[in-house]
Amino acid sequence: MKIIKSVSEVVSYITEQQVGQKKICLIPTMGNLHDGHSELINSSPINSLRVVTIYINQLQFDDPNDYINYPKNTESDLELCIKNNVDLIFMPDENFMTDLSDNRIIDLPKFTKYMCGATRKGHFLGVYKIVRVLFDMFNPHYACFGKKDYQQLLLIRYIAKTYFKNLKIVEVDIIRNRNNLALSSRLSRLTEQSLKDAELIYKTLTKIKNSILDGEKFSTIKKKSIEELNYNDIHVDYIELRLLDTLEECKNSLSRCGIFIACYINGIRLIDNIEI
Ligand code: PAJ
Repeated sequence: MKIIKSVSEVVSYITEQQVGQKKICLIPTMGNLHDGHSELINSSPINSLRVVTIYINQLQFDDPNDYINYPKNTESDLELCIKNNVDLIFMPDENFMTDLSDNRIIDLPKFTKYMCGATRKGHFLGVYKIVRVLFDMFNPHYACFGKKDYQQLLLIRYIAKTYFKNLKIVEVDIIRNRNNLALSSRLSRLTEQSLKDAELIYKTLTKIKNSILDGEKFSTIKKKSIEELNYNDIHVDYIELRLLDTLEECKNSLSRCGIFIACYINGIRLIDNIEI
């Protein structure tokens, strides 16, 4: 496994590989890797060159403390990548994106204004910027992204469709622990007790799903769920019922809808979702 930190070195390495007809599969991450990331790596199409990028992109953080405290564990990241037969890790230094940044106005699609976009100012603009830079640099045939960050995945689909017509996005289902908690790099900042408490997130999603399938009004069950989560020290940012394709609110039918949640436990933000 090759590890490259310099932009010019990685670009010339990738160019060589492309001359040799290798198909590049890009797996962008912010490190502190877990089994969810392994699943992405192992979803790379056969014979592709597996390229993992590890970079905590400051531009997508609305809260400076969240950025500073984002968990890092390079040693175990490298081990996980070796175990999963990664070919190349690109880990640029922390100025990589901030150096490139400009203030051009970018018009993002409407769905980026909802949910995480409504409460994390500038988040999706930051994601958009880094993903475009990485796609431009690596010119991959494939790129793997997880459905845990569903709203982000819609943005990735949009970027690929608009600017990288030959790129195929490989979409990976949410990987959960044995108690159904969606894996996240941020979980390593939780205490054992908070990890246990966090199991209520998925339980709540399934409860809401079953209730609305039984005919209960979403607004009623949402109110009850927020109260129950609050009671358990889980502070809800949003719980929403939205269409999977546009993230507009579901009005008349439950077809192609999902329930989306963002919440804080001990000040740590977690998100999850479930399809109906
Ligand atoms: P990060 O949170 O490290 O996630 C990297 C990729 O792993 C994303 O596509 C995310 O959806 C996926 N992922 C994380 N947890 C998962 C889980 N439990 N199951 C399935 N997939 C999971 O998302 C980012 O980094 C950044 O925003 C990034 C795209 C790298 C841009 O900076």
